[in-house]
Amino acid sequence: MSAICYLDGEYLPLDQARVSPMDRGFLFADGGYEVIPVYSRQPFRLEQHLARLDNTLCGLEIANPHGTARWRELIGELVARNDWHDQSVYVQVTRGCEGRRNHAFPHGLAPTVFITSEALVTVPAVQREAGVGAITAADFRWLRCDLKTIALLANCLLRNQALKAGCVEAILLRDGFLTEGSASNIFVVRDGIMLAPPKSHLMLPGITYDVVLELAASNGLRHQVREILEQELRSADEIWLTSSTKEVLPITCLDGHPVGDGRPGPVARQMYDWYQDFKARVMRGG
Ligand code: PDD
Repeated sequence: MSAICYLDGEYLPLDQARVSPMDRGFLFADGGYEVIPVYSRQPFRLEQHLARLDNTLCGLEIANPHGTARWRELIGELVARNDWHDQSVYVQVTRGCEGRRNHAFPHGLAPTVFITSEALVTVPAVQREAGVGAITAADFRWLRCDLKTIALLANCLLRNQALKAGCVEAILLRDGFLTEGSASNIFVVRDGIMLAPPKSHLMLPGITYDVVLELAASNGLRHQVREILEQELRSADEIWLTSSTKEVLPITCLDGHPVGDGRPGPVARQMYDWYQDFKARVMRGG
């Protein structure tokens, strides 16, 4: 079944959508994106995703083609036109197409707006119950990792390094500190205290990361937002990753060594339950 997508003002089957090879997204990876989970046809934390998209476009000096209300309409319509109850909506905005290859930003170009959706793929129960493996890797990305740009080749190389090692994620280290995963944020638990690296230009400000910190605060879980040393990561009692599609997923093996006792820890389980309760409340409109 082909998804229905939105491309520059038109809804159409995904397999019929066409963009020019001279689009700056294709030539320069010149654009930003968002991945928004949709539960029971309701986009989760849409306002925050749209705010982050706006921040990315601002950082890239691309004028946001739509205000929040229009984005909500476009995404709502796309969700309604697709068959799945739970979806993963992908929004991409590139600087557009000038018709020639040119490093300088052309003025007055209409951005290319592409939105598509697929069935939300949840983490398999076996992974959720046993946890997953991760490798560590040097974070060799650029210094604007706070922007969610479509220039993801470094992230793809790192993720594939993890997959080749039979793992699910690469946890990235820069100058001896934890930054994030190749497509996720990373949390650590030591002595019952949840640790999260502070937002900076070195990591993406995750929407799920924010929810987890809010849940820790509202439930009285002891936590600190501070830089995490490689050694603290390696000797953690628990590690988990967060992302819009994987939610809260325990990492039970790091570079071939068990994390804690090698099983998902109590804080990760608790956080997962809080996250599910929170989602259910939001979806009920509470
Ligand atoms: N990626 N860090 C990076 C580098 C990411 O690519 C992502 C998400 C996150 C988590 O952010 P959030 O909680 O807002 O999903 C952190 C998405 C899912 C992707 O590229 O598919």
